[in-house]
Parts: sequence; structure tokens; C-alpha cells
Amino acid sequence: LAKTPAAAFLLIFLRACLSITHPPKDAQVTCLFHEDCILPCSFRPTSAVVIHWYKQQIPVHSYYYNKDQFGLQNKHFSGRTCLFNSQIAQGNASLVLRKVKVQDRGRYKCYTSTRKGNQETFVNLGVKALIQLVKIELTEEKVTCLAQNIYPAPHLFWSTEPPTDPASLHNYTSNTADSKGLFTIESTVNILGNITQYAYFCSVVSADGSQVWTASVKRQDELFGEEGSALLIPCMVPQPRHNFTLTWTFIRTNDPVIIFTYDSRTRKMSNPWENRADMDMEQVHMGNGSLTLLSPESLSHTGVYTCTFSSFQMKHQVQTWVNVTVRVADADENVCRRSWWGTAASVFIFVLTISVALSRCLRLRGKGNKGLSLHIFSSA
Ligand SMILES: *[C@@H]1O[C@H](CO)[C@@H](O)[C@H](O)[C@H]1NC(C)=O
Ligand SMILES: *[C@@H]1O[C@H](CO)[C@@H](O)[C@H](O)[C@H]1NC(C)=O
Ligand SMILES: *[C@@H]1O[C@H](CO)[C@@H](O)[C@H](O)[C@H]1NC(C)=O
Ligand SMILES: *[C@@H]1O[C@H](CO)[C@@H](O)[C@H](O)[C@H]1NC(C)=O
Ligand SMILES: *[C@@H]1O[C@H](CO)[C@@H](O)[C@H](O)[C@H]1NC(C)=O
Ligand SMILES: *[C@@H]1O[C@H](CO)[C@@H](O)[C@H](O)[C@H]1NC(C)=O
Repeated sequence: LAKTPAAAFLLIFLRACLSITHPPKDAQVTCLFHEDCILPCSFRPTSAVVIHWYKQQIPVHSYYYNKDQFGLQNKHFSGRTCLFNSQIAQGNASLVLRKVKVQDRGRYKCYTSTRKGNQETFVNLGVKALIQLVKIELTEEKVTCLAQNIYPAPHLFWSTEPPTDPASLHNYTSNTADSKGLFTIESTVNILGNITQYAYFCSVVSADGSQVWTASVKRQDELFGEEGSALLIPCMVPQPRHNFTLTWTFIRTNDPVIIFTYDSRTRKMSNPWENRADMDMEQVHMGNGSLTLLSPESLSHTGVYTCTFSSFQMKHQVQTWVNVTVRVADADENVCRRSWWGTAASVFIFVLTISVALSRCLRLRGKGNKGLSLHIFSSA
């Protein structure tokens, strides 16, 4: 087609028409909440540069007479904008917007004017506040899941292991925005049947589906241990991951204390309960974080043990109530043994005293002194 001059001309004409009827599309920029962001804009550089950035009709930033002009700037943007001043001569009119707010989202106009004419381009700014943490909490009647400071509003889903019909999980979910426009999502489900029967999984999904964070919690059946004998507290992760940290905490009456940690990346572990807690490092890498209590004591080791596997956008928690009982049978045996030894000792001392006394008595009788032998007998 382009081989004849007429066709070439037609093609150029068509292109020109298209660019008139379809002006350049808005640039799309997604900025992270509270971070700095660049709104792109370029122009053909010549002298007498004027740059105006607007959001709808609101003045955001201006530049003319070779410097920034803040006289008309809206106070919403005050102190948060700048241009790449050293690059304006090269046709760079991009705007830096600092500490992006939810309210900054919208359509921005970049107006530039030089001796050769002027131009307008548009940037659509979207704002995202990423999911950073999902908290899950289990009480006797319900499970609560919470994620904060997210934009736009996320979604939340529940599931269980073993699986149940989602309709049987009666959830109450609220999604509320704070004064900064950030969302807090909170959801509660009632426990199904016996509390130790299910693991509860809560997934918080960002509005565009790009982020999925999952937290889960499971209560195991209560474990009974005996004072002084090793006790294995099981903890299995549902899907083993490559990069994870494992933390065991213990609550007796007050705040939780960390008793064991392991980081799979650095292969570093810490064991504040040395000589009391142990773990098989081979097993940990296969998703078995079971902890062995070596010689538990009834008073100081009865309580709630929580095992937490954390990896990228995932947290899995297993709680176990452990009750270390005193060895009743042993206690009785000890008493018996002590009394048996006691009897033997008294008999021995009695026999010894009599024999000593008798021998003295026999010797003394030779000397005719009876008072001393009586004295020895009474003291025994
Ligand atoms: C303007 O300059 C900045 C800083 O060098 C650069 O990051 C940006 O991509 C440039 N923008 C344009 C449209 O040239
Ligand atoms: C939670 O409740 C909503 C409506 O209230 C429902 O659409 C959803 O399926 C429920 N279940 C789960 C597992 O999220
Ligand atoms: C809960 O169920 C498990 C097995 O399903 C059972 O072993 C356990 O005793 C039950 N616990 C209670 C408190 O009913
Ligand atoms: C695990 O972490 C290391 C170091 O941070 C990283 O290089 C690697 O890609 C990660 N692996 C996975 C499966 O996430
Ligand atoms: C998990 O590891 C412990 C040792 O720490 C072991 O006794 C137990 O059998 C393992 N459990 C499974 C299911 O592999
Ligand atoms: C531990 O178990 C014993 C015997 O079943 C019970 O009497 C005691 O209340 C339990 N202690 C705790 C803290 O649960």
C-alpha cells in the first residue's frame, strides 16, 4: 500500500486523524500509600518554559520564570511536590508527589507551554496501601480475623481444615475506613462443634487480587504430662514452605514468653528454655515443628503452648493446653522408701548402741562401776 506516494500520503493523513480523534491515553500510575511517587510528563524543550500541574481544577504545582511558583498551590499539596528542576531543560516535567495520601487519587493534568506552543497530557493516579499483617485470634466461642490500613477495601474469606460447607460458617464481616481513608477489615465466625475439631483459615485478598494473606489457627486436644518425663507437643504445618520462621511461646498466667525460635533462612535457632525444650532440626524442614519438653515441672510448665509458622504472606498457629501433673504414685513410693530407710537406720543405731554399751558394761563391771553403764543405756 505504502509503495505509491498517494497511498503514503493517505496513511499519514489517517494517522493524523486518528491522533486527533483518539488523544493519547492517560498514563496510569499506582502509588503506594505514604511513599513518594512520580507522575510522568515530557515536552519538546525550547525556551520560556511554563509548567502547570492540576488535579481537576486544583493547582498542584507551577513553574515559570525558571523557578517553582507556590503562590497558587492548594494547601493539600503544600510541601509535597517538586519537579526534576535540573532536567526541565531536557523536556522533563514529571512531578514528584511525596507521602501519597488516599485523597491524592484522581486525574492530573500536566500543562506545558514554550515558544513553540503548548500541550496537555493526563495522568491517572491510583493509590494502594498493601496488606501488611493479618491477625487471627481464637476464643472458646469464636475466631476473629483482622487486617488494618488497607486501600482499596480488601475481601476476606474463611475456610476450615478438614473442609466444611462455607454456608455453615456464620461470619460477621465489617470493612470500615478511618479518617485517612484506609480500611480495616474484621471478621468473626462461630466455632463449629468441638473447638479442637477444625483449623480455621482466614484469607485477606486485596481488591485487585494481587495480594493474598492467610492466617490460620488450630487448638489441639489438651495434653497431659507427668512431672519429670519427656512430653512431645505436636505441631505440623499444613504446607511446608522454604523460607519460614518458627516460634514457640508459652503462657502460664501472664504474658506469653518465647521459649524457642528457628529461622529456616539463616538456620539460626534460639532456645531460652535450654535443657527444658528440644526440637528435631531434620523434622522442622519437613514442616514438623513438634517440641519436646524434656523434664517438665508441674507448676512452672503447665499452661498454653503456641507454635507459629510464619512465611511469606502466611501464618499458621497451633495452640496446645498442656497440664503437667505431679507423679502421685511416685510421691507415695518416696514416702515408703524414706520410712523404710528410717526404720533400718534406727534399728542399726539401736543395735550399735546396745553392743557398745554392753561391751563397756562388761569392761566396767571388771572395775566395779555400774552408774556409767546405766547412764549410757538411758541416753540411747
Ligand atoms: C524525569 O527525570 C527523572 C529523574 O531523572 C526520571 O526518573 C524520570 O523518568 C524522567 N521523566 C521523564 C518523563 O523523562
Ligand atoms: C460470609 O458472609 C458473607 C455474607 O455475609 C457470604 O457471602 C460468605 O459466603 C460467607 N462465608 C465465608 C466463608 O466467607
Ligand atoms: C473433641 O473431639 C476430639 C476428636 O474429635 C476428641 O478427642 C476430644 O475429646 C473432644 N474434646 C472435647 C472437649 O469434647
Ligand atoms: C528464600 O529466601 C532467600 C533469601 O532471602 C531467597 O533468595 C529465596 O528466593 C527465597 N525462596 C523462596 C522459595 O521464597
Ligand atoms: C515430628 O517430630 C518428632 C520429633 O521432634 C517425632 O517424634 C514425630 O514422630 C514427628 N511427627 C511426624 C508426624 O513426623
Ligand atoms: C490439670 O489436670 C488435673 C487432673 O485432671 C486437674 O485437676 C487440674 O485442674 C488441671 N490443671 C489445669 C491448670 O488445667
